[in-house]
Amino acid sequence: MEKREKLYEGKAKILYATDDPNLIIQYFKDDATAFNAQKKGTIVEKGIYNNRISSHIFKLLAQEGVASHFVQHLSDREMLVKRVNIIPVEVVIRNRIAGSLAKRFGLAEGGVLSRPILEFYYKDDALGDPMINEDHIAVFELASQKEMEEIKKISLSVNTFLKSWFQEIRISLVDFKLEFGRYDHQVLLADEITPDGCRLWDIETEEKLDKDRFRRDLGQIEEAYREVWRRISEHSAK
Ligand code: TMP
Repeated sequence: MEKREKLYEGKAKILYATDDPNLIIQYFKDDATAFNAQKKGTIVEKGIYNNRISSHIFKLLAQEGVASHFVQHLSDREMLVKRVNIIPVEVVIRNRIAGSLAKRFGLAEGGVLSRPILEFYYKDDALGDPMINEDHIAVFELASQKEMEEIKKISLSVNTFLKSWFQEIRISLVDFKLEFGRYDHQVLLADEITPDGCRLWDIETEEKLDKDRFRRDLGQIEEAYREVWRRISEHSAK
């Protein structure tokens, strides 16, 4: 398998073609952005940790019957994935109050929700990823009704699995963002599952182990990503 031309460069990853038209390489950068790229920075070795963390999680999800674009962890920063067409709907799944939910309702962070909340955002950087509902998605044909049923079902089962799996490594899965793609008439989980797009709090201390350390200038950002990977790798070695 040969790496070919750059197809797309996003905020945290670069996509490269390969000699197989159905497969591409996701290259994980150390670049970090927040607030729709108004804040920019570097988190040293984030790309390496995110590639490891996401590869590990996609493998576990495959064992649970959740199909994703993941094919193989290729190198420190490279992951081989199926070339999907990304559906422009970002799904946020929330288990506890934090971030924009806390702000919208004027609530303190940390409260546990009686059941998970699903939210949808239109994936459009120029518009700042506005929140949308299923009517917007249907009327503007961002995804079909059938795809949305699949996306909601997968999102909730990923949440059920990840919540209890993170608990085993003493992490509370507060909320996270998923993206999906179309591949061969199927909806596949795509993008990445990493501390860039999840809120991960230590169960005992509630210390933040995710990109909020960067967004909020909390320091020890590199350490947080490394700590998440340390817990995952130690857990899987058992
Ligand atoms: P929010 O509370 O800021 O809406 O974020 C909810 C979750 O979604 C949080 O885990 C971070 C993730 N997220 C992204 O991955 N990308 C984004 O652009 C935003 C705004 C949030």
